[in-house]
Amino acid sequence: MNFNLKNVPSQKGRIAIVTGANNGIGFETSLAMANYGFKVIMACRNLTKAEKAKSEILQKSPNADLDILQLDLSDLESVRTFAKNFKNKYAQLDVLINNAGVLIYSGKKNKAGVELQFATNHLGHFLLTGLLLEQMPDSSDSRIVALSSLAHKEAKIHFDDLNCETTDDNGAAYGQSKLANLMFADELNRRLKKANKKIVALAVHPGGSDSGLFDEMSKITYYTFKILSPFILHSNASAAKPSLFAALSPGVKGGEYFGPQGFREFRGRVGIAKRSDYSKREDIATRLWQLSEKMTDQSFLS
Ligand SMILES: NC(=O)c1ccc[n+]([C@@H]2O[C@H](COP(=O)([O-])OP(=O)(O)OC[C@H]3O[C@@H](n4cnc5c(N)ncnc54)[C@H](OP(=O)(O)O)[C@@H]3O)[C@@H](O)[C@H]2O)c1
Repeated sequence: MNFNLKNVPSQKGRIAIVTGANNGIGFETSLAMANYGFKVIMACRNLTKAEKAKSEILQKSPNADLDILQLDLSDLESVRTFAKNFKNKYAQLDVLINNAGVLIYSGKKNKAGVELQFATNHLGHFLLTGLLLEQMPDSSDSRIVALSSLAHKEAKIHFDDLNCETTDDNGAAYGQSKLANLMFADELNRRLKKANKKIVALAVHPGGSDSGLFDEMSKITYYTFKILSPFILHSNASAAKPSLFAALSPGVKGGEYFGPQGFREFRGRVGIAKRSDYSKREDIATRLWQLSEKMTDQSFLS
């Protein structure tokens, strides 16, 4: 854990994709990765927002090497088109940061009828990873990073009710999607090792930061959150550090789960994060993988 984000050698010549690069933690992750010398592919669903974010990064870092490619993770066709466009332009991918996410309480579904958070946060990233894996050099510097959350701790995968329609818990579907992110990273890493690949998959959570993620909360919760957040949460730039650590630290083995170490893991130095016992269950991770293959029609490392 001696690795310091201030002393990262130049990453010139390497390519990273950051999903949801236009806002919050993804924006800060993209800015930092560009400062380290990566060519950063900003994978965003809204091109106007993406162009604006790109200009802001270039203002802060005029030498940043950035490209924008459109990606809507809630739509599997869009994920396939993104992967095709990326492969047409670039021969190699060094780091994939599966950062984008939605938090909603409305029970919205994607056009295939899948609950939007499971579809976007998990299935879209599962397919994206499967389509891009062959672009990654077989090296321990090749990284796939999943953004999970403290919210995974109370969650389980509702295999018999994936859309979480029979629960009264508004947060169940978000928790399920973030648990899926964590368990996907574990299972991916196990499968990579089994296939004798050196590529590393791992998960992080950012603690808590005042990003765009909470915009759909009820007004009262939203304003309470806005008032309290400066005292208990950290900035989006700090919240990006676990992702940067996972993408760049030479000491990682794969399968780790990193997050902030301070009060309730909301903020603080990056270290090994606490996780639920349920999230460690390999039988559930295998079942989730098989289900995800079926739902995305994409098999890999099987
Ligand atoms: N902030 C926190 O406290 C916190 C805590 C735990 C975990 N996280 C995780 O951290 C990650 C980043 O979230 P954030 O806090 O930075 O939130 P944010 O500011 O809302 O950023 C989320 C990003 O994801 C993008 N996105 C949403 N739906 C998408 C889709 N269908 N296809 C492609 N991109 C999509 C958003 O694009 P638009 O701008 O177009 O909506 C935005 O760029 C998420 O995975 C979140 O679950 C955050």
